[in-house]
Amino acid sequence: MKKNKNKEAFAIVTGASKGLGYSYCEELLKLGYNVIGVARDTESLKNLQEKYVDLKVESWNIDLSNPEGATNLYEKAKNFDIEILINNAGYGVWGYFDQTDLEQEMNMIDLNIKTLHILTKLFVEYFKEKDKGRVLNIGSMASFTPAPVFSSYYASKAYVWSLGVAINTELKKTKSKVRVITLCPGPLKTDFWNRSSNQNEAKYKSNVKVMKTNVYARKSLYSGLNTKRKNYIVTGKINKFIKWITKWAPESTVLNSVYNYQRKRK
Ligand SMILES: NC(=O)c1ccc[n+]([C@@H]2O[C@H](COP(=O)([O-])OP(=O)(O)OC[C@H]3O[C@@H](n4cnc5c(N)ncnc54)[C@H](OP(=O)(O)O)[C@@H]3O)[C@@H](O)[C@H]2O)c1
Repeated sequence: MKKNKNKEAFAIVTGASKGLGYSYCEELLKLGYNVIGVARDTESLKNLQEKYVDLKVESWNIDLSNPEGATNLYEKAKNFDIEILINNAGYGVWGYFDQTDLEQEMNMIDLNIKTLHILTKLFVEYFKEKDKGRVLNIGSMASFTPAPVFSSYYASKAYVWSLGVAINTELKKTKSKVRVITLCPGPLKTDFWNRSSNQNEAKYKSNVKVMKTNVYARKSLYSGLNTKRKNYIVTGKINKFIKWITKWAPESTVLNSVYNYQRKRK
């Protein structure tokens, strides 16, 4: 992939302290972008600053489940030359709907939906002004189907996909160079599963071979930064097959298999 030549260019990554966000930070640094990493605790990003000494790694501790955090982030970021925003911070609330905690679900909705919406809006306006820039929103394979026993998380990712696809279509129709691309990962082995099921050692159940997080980050970043026509990116043959089958299989078959997959998580 082409290296970034603008020495002042920054990419913002939310949820940068671990998992997929941390991998995105590293892949962006490899491409020559300075990085602003955002999370509640960004201590881990010191490692990246030590490794990539010629580039800047800004570490901003912000709780993005408070939508005010999103506007504060934007106000602070305006002083930098931002070219990429990756809205990655997110988590799930696993369990039967009558047993999950409402407060946790509202916090998740604030992070996965409200903050992502606010940042997408503010940065689309900012990028349009410069006629340059990309927002990469992290959706999920969960964007494509409802999920019994993981209902509100899948619904939040359906929102991310629907919003992003619509905005990107507007941008293309109005001949803008700005893009909002939704990246849709399948399962990755990160802390996501522990946080989403309120367990320290969540059982990771999958019969399929899972893509390594850094490999997924590299591949999806490449597609997300380079595509001209696509609105969203599904990476990997198995994920593409699952996407295809969820579209064409009867709804009841899809819901039964998601139910059977999700209910066994504990
Ligand atoms: N793992 C998967 O299987 C999978 C599959 C599809 C999609 N995804 C999506 O991928 C994205 C990244 O997830 P991951 O798997 O990398 O999970 P992860 O390892 O748990 O990382 C989540 C990141 O988000 C940050 N974060 C959480 N709450 C935050 C808050 N209130 N304010 C600011 N930052 C916050 C965390 O840092 P702090 O705790 O320090 O704040 C961490 O850096 C999420 O949107 C997730 O839904 C994951």
